[in-house]
Amino acid sequence: EESWYKEEYRPQFHFSPKEKWMNDPNGLVFNQGVYHLFYQYYPEDIVWGPMHWGHAVSEDLVHWKHKPIALYPDEHGYIFSGSAVVDKNNTSGFGENGEAPLVAIFTYHSKEGEEAGRMDFQTQGVAYSLDNGNTWNKYEGNPIIQNDGIKDFRDPKVFWHESSQSWILTLVAGDHAKFYTSKNLKDWTYLSDFGKSQGAHGGVWECPDLFPLQVDGSEEEKWVLIISINPGAPNGGSGTQYFVGDFDGKVFTSNQKEPKWLDYGTDNYAGVTYNNVPGNGRFFIGWMSNWNYAQDTPTKKWRSAMTVPRKLSLHKVVDDYFLANYPIDKISDLTNSTLVNEVEVAANTSDTLQVEGLNQSEIRLRTAAKNFKLLFKNELDEVLVLSMDSKNQVFTIDRTLSGKVDFQEDFGAKKHVAPLKGMKENVLEFKILMDWSSMELFVDQGMLSMTEQIFPTVPYHTLIIVNEDEQAPIVIKSIKRMESIW
Ligand code: FRU
Repeated sequence: EESWYKEEYRPQFHFSPKEKWMNDPNGLVFNQGVYHLFYQYYPEDIVWGPMHWGHAVSEDLVHWKHKPIALYPDEHGYIFSGSAVVDKNNTSGFGENGEAPLVAIFTYHSKEGEEAGRMDFQTQGVAYSLDNGNTWNKYEGNPIIQNDGIKDFRDPKVFWHESSQSWILTLVAGDHAKFYTSKNLKDWTYLSDFGKSQGAHGGVWECPDLFPLQVDGSEEEKWVLIISINPGAPNGGSGTQYFVGDFDGKVFTSNQKEPKWLDYGTDNYAGVTYNNVPGNGRFFIGWMSNWNYAQDTPTKKWRSAMTVPRKLSLHKVVDDYFLANYPIDKISDLTNSTLVNEVEVAANTSDTLQVEGLNQSEIRLRTAAKNFKLLFKNELDEVLVLSMDSKNQVFTIDRTLSGKVDFQEDFGAKKHVAPLKGMKENVLEFKILMDWSSMELFVDQGMLSMTEQIFPTVPYHTLIIVNEDEQAPIVIKSIKRMESIW
């Protein structure tokens, strides 16, 4: 298409804005054959600023087309994160001529209110589109949910709840989630709170998402509540926890006390799922960054990218529920040439593969080995190290020497560690998606995922497999080159 997508570090198969600052995905909704991706956007700089909703569309969740900015700040404030729904029955009355309006529900952040030292500077507003997202009108009755003095009061996620025939809205209020109900998307009634004494509380709760999922291999249905938290993630800064429980149309309950983490890398934040997708698929997109260093990363024209879209699934392992996330199948359709095929690395040996194109690839391996390392290296000896360590029952990612790391003190400060529990299989499948400035690891079909930004000075072209296991071989099933989506 154009030349903008070839700059240093530009992701080749992940969504990134053409230019300027991006954070959270917003308003993920499927409508009339189109997947919408709105996002927190500041069009004037490559650091956070007065928030707009940027916009892109896709027919396959893989290839994206950039669209003009959808929502601009107005007299009520900046446009913070939120969601979008298709109002099929025109419950809002925003529709005309029987057309179902697309309705966005978002947070207004009043800079004046904040600067005046008030606590009620975040409220919720709505806007609607009658042309599938091309143009937007703000509702004149905004804000639709006032704030009675809660400092962090934001990120409404709305969905249609079939059994109560009503809209349900989840938002976060500092250290907990709140639920509301409505018949028309404009008048909201408070229902209940969740979470003050459950899960992680090392930081502010942000970007909630509540949805049902059928437990894999059974008829059982549970509700999952996703909550981003910043700071307080297991490897520092921003991260996403989840709760598995039940929702009766009014109250969400979960007997889970300890947090569970959707991703153990440091770069998957503020992720939420699509509304109105045909079929049962639950598709998730996260912002591939971390507030610890998001504004310092070494890109020049734009900042940050989204994770690949991932399908969520729920699994019961022993007596506990775990949420898995795994790249949608269509991402694998981007593989266009096989760089490495079926290489076996025997127990207690290692192998070095020179792979031109490694920095834009999908790597699949399969092994029962419990101790091994994968080293991604470039000619400057910068190295990203992934290790499986059975003694400590952890998987670690070490990016401390992976390339440019000193743009901010936290970025390369320490190894990132994930517990190796909840795996379903003994022989584990690994999928690694390597792009020009990110690495996404999926173990056991996404029972464990780790998402990491990396900034190698020159691309990695060498993969070293160090099999430290006494018995099991490691089989590199394939390394395939990924096509660019731009
Ligand atoms: C999460 C977040 C949201 C907020 C938005 C502002 O990254 O802090 O809570 O709505 O970013 O851009």
